[in-house]
Amino acid sequence: MYTKTPPGGGSPATARNKKLTAPDITARKGGDAIVMVTAYDYTMARLLDEGGADVLLVGDSLGMVIQGQDNTIAVTLEDMLYHCRAVARAATHAHVVGDMPFMSYTTPPQALSSAGRLIKEGMAESVKLEGGEEMAEQVRYIVRAGIPVMGHVGLTPQSVHALGGFKVQGKGDAAAARIVSDARALEQAGAYAVVLEAIPPDVAEMVSEALSVPTIGIGAGSSCDGQVLVCHDLLGLTLGRRPRFAKAYAELGAQVRDAMGRYADEVRSGAFPAKEHSYRSNASRRKAKLTVV
Ligand code: KIV
Repeated sequence: MYTKTPPGGGSPATARNKKLTAPDITARKGGDAIVMVTAYDYTMARLLDEGGADVLLVGDSLGMVIQGQDNTIAVTLEDMLYHCRAVARAATHAHVVGDMPFMSYTTPPQALSSAGRLIKEGMAESVKLEGGEEMAEQVRYIVRAGIPVMGHVGLTPQSVHALGGFKVQGKGDAAAARIVSDARALEQAGAYAVVLEAIPPDVAEMVSEALSVPTIGIGAGSSCDGQVLVCHDLLGLTLGRRPRFAKAYAELGAQVRDAMGRYADEVRSGAFPAKEHSYRSNASRRKAKLTVV
């Protein structure tokens, strides 16, 4: 299904037969919008890759949507490695980003060791970490080792306890200015792109204008250089209330319940399996033989 020039044209970096790299993503600043989505397993990653994702983020949001936890705190590096490998095997076009889990990058050496494992064992092509200026040293350390780093500012879910919940960030002038300086610090440290989560659109616009690397927004308005959604939200698999910033492009949750209900009904009524779902056999010959014996 891939063509060299995507429908509606586009730069060579968006050609579907090319595996996107971190420099390709950086080169999209101010150009074709970057389409990022989370992925956690092989089948879904393949479908999202074939559907047109530029970046597959193996997000630590897997703690919530895959593991059923209230937040991302308990996710381990081993969890991330397992899911990264599955996604990396599937991606033929999209760039694969491995999220650094909570407490895996508290010092520059620890950050480098964790990032290295995500690249070597998890087969990720770059890593993402949360935090601003206070994480600049970690970013510099990892980038110097040849590993591209994506930053993440605004609402940083790993700091949920410090932030007092999953709340919009950057509302006041000082908070907005802090987000801009945090993003700048990440860029100066070598980040190739920065995620902006849950901040007012005007603040996202200020950050996007201040940086020469792309911003990728989630709940940050339309001025960013790209957008990211959790795939469960995009596909209508959200359990409970869908976040305001998320748009569902399908309602797979309802379809799953409906399919399961019809399967259960047919098993209980004996309608499934029907003849066409059963293997052919030489039942009559076998019966005859058995009779002879
Ligand atoms: O873990 C994740 O899914 C993320 C995105 C929300 C950006 O970090």
